[in-house]
Amino acid sequence: MCAASLCGERCSALLFDVSMHPLEVLYLRRIRRRLIAQAAGRVLEVGCGTGVNLPFFGWQRIEQLTLVDLEFPPSLRDYAFPHTVDVQFQRQSVEQLEFADNSFDAVVFSLVFCSVADNRRGMAELHRVLAPGGRMFFIEHVLPPSRLLRAPMRALNPLWRRLNSGCNLTRDTVRLIEQTGFVLEELERSARGVLVSGIARKPHANLRE
Ligand SMILES: C[S@@+](CC[C@H](N)C(=O)[O-])C[C@H]1O[C@@H](n2cnc3c(N)ncnc32)[C@H](O)[C@@H]1O
Repeated sequence: MCAASLCGERCSALLFDVSMHPLEVLYLRRIRRRLIAQAAGRVLEVGCGTGVNLPFFGWQRIEQLTLVDLEFPPSLRDYAFPHTVDVQFQRQSVEQLEFADNSFDAVVFSLVFCSVADNRRGMAELHRVLAPGGRMFFIEHVLPPSRLLRAPMRALNPLWRRLNSGCNLTRDTVRLIEQTGFVLEELERSARGVLVSGIARKPHANLRE
């Protein structure tokens, strides 16, 4: 990789973190701290980006961490991962994961499903690779319930999507989680319903829960 492209990746990762700073301080940091620390066992994080969730993992509970993204900023490989955890980097799309069924005990994703092109397929893949009884920890931005906010967000979406690498303001990821067969255990709505976060479980087969 040439020095210019390395610098380009570092700069865009830095730019992303700087632009997200106000949201982090107002909402995301607290939510990440509460949710991400609960992921245990064989953990899959999809769309890890610059690694903003890493400081919030409860490493003593984690046996193996698999990070999936379309691209990894070089700085992520320099992160001080604890030696006790087997960390894997996998350049894959959530829409087509190269893992066997039931491979993970926990799945984590934050601010990812707004930009997954085939979000139904992506969520079905997470359901497939999560073991029965496993839990999924999520933070997403969605179309809020308020009609006053829905109309402008819908109107802005085509331009927003073009300017923000395919990010949509209009997704209903909570509905998608339920439609895919997960059972919601916890759901919090913040920032006037634009942010949703929580825990969803993949039920054991043949059990009504
Ligand atoms: C807005 S960033 C969020 C980064 C980080 N999770 C956070 O909470 O700030 C979205 C991330 O999802 C990744 N992503 C988008 N589509 C994806 C896909 N189909 N498969 C895997 N990762 C994807 C992007 O590459 C990017 O790193």
